[in-house]
Amino acid sequence: MSATSPFDELLGSGFPVVAAPMAGVSDRIFRSIAREYGARLAWTGMVAAPSLLSGKSFPLDFGGESGVVVQLFGARPEEVAKAAMVAEAAGAAAIDINMGCPVSSVVSGGAGAALMLEPELAGKVVAAVKRRVAVPVTVKMRRGWDEHSPGAVAVAQAVAAAGAAAVIVHGRYRSQFCTGSADRQVIADVKRAVAIPVIGNGDVRSPEEAARMFQETGCDAVMIGRAALGNPWIFAACREYFKTNRIPPRPTPEERIAAAIRHCKMLLSHEGEGALCKMRRQADWYTRGLKGAARLRESIYRTGSFAAIERLLLEFLAACRAGGTLD
Ligand SMILES: Cc1cc2nc3c(=O)[nH]c(=O)nc-3n(C[C@H](O)[C@H](O)[C@H](O)COP(=O)(O)O)c2cc1C
Repeated sequence: MSATSPFDELLGSGFPVVAAPMAGVSDRIFRSIAREYGARLAWTGMVAAPSLLSGKSFPLDFGGESGVVVQLFGARPEEVAKAAMVAEAAGAAAIDINMGCPVSSVVSGGAGAALMLEPELAGKVVAAVKRRVAVPVTVKMRRGWDEHSPGAVAVAQAVAAAGAAAVIVHGRYRSQFCTGSADRQVIADVKRAVAIPVIGNGDVRSPEEAARMFQETGCDAVMIGRAALGNPWIFAACREYFKTNRIPPRPTPEERIAAAIRHCKMLLSHEGEGALCKMRRQADWYTRGLKGAARLRESIYRTGSFAAIERLLLEFLAACRAGGTLD
């Protein structure tokens, strides 16, 4: 890793919190908002190496974005390596190899979490990518496939020996998908077993939980996923908490609705009305937990345009201000 590696900057920042890869969610707009609120790096959702090579799936259009980690999945070392070259040429700050995806269509091809069953192959994928790109190469993994197979320690050691610059450990087995709770012990075990930076991931929903993740595992950085849905303030809150030990006030309904409209507007200007499904989901996430949000959600998923979503959100805000709900 060179002295200007994004991971050096991340670790030297005093606020090492990053935005997780979330397929279908962590697009350019999500990433840029996460970064604006304080995420030090932001991951793309996973991209299949073959479809990146065929130019089919992934608009590698980072615009002015910096600090983007492109996550690839695949099980054929040379194929993943060639895809990594495409991502690097497009401006990726680092390449991350997905060794955690649990879904059948991915693991049936030997990729994602299936690579955790074969630490040697996992190392070969990393080594092949390392040979082809100059940017850092990382691996995001799980606790293991299940409790009977090689765990994150073995896989982390294999990929570290192959030249990985950092590993991200999500403390659930593949067999758990996203159920149960994430184990922290495995992150501590990986941290003790390898000399490269370890990024802890799983169930961090607040600045206090982020601090606990650091304390309990000794990890070098924390990755936040679901808690950032409709809630980019989580990054700013972590930063504030680490600096001052104080938790900033939660955003007001006004702030949340303004941020939802802004997020949708950014999606509209970047992707047009084709981003309608994404806009509906964002509007839903940003307003979750507000009084009357369940009723709002039903209406949001019936809308057919950005203008309709914006109108609903503004009506909802007016109802919030009046102390009532939309019904
Ligand atoms: C909608 C969604 C999409 C996801 N897509 C990916 C992905 O493309 N690559 C990946 O490594 N993990 C993916 N994940 C897993 C997250 O990156 C993260 O490991 C997991 O949600 C646990 O962290 P959290 O508790 O902070 O959400 C996804 C999770 C969600 C909820």
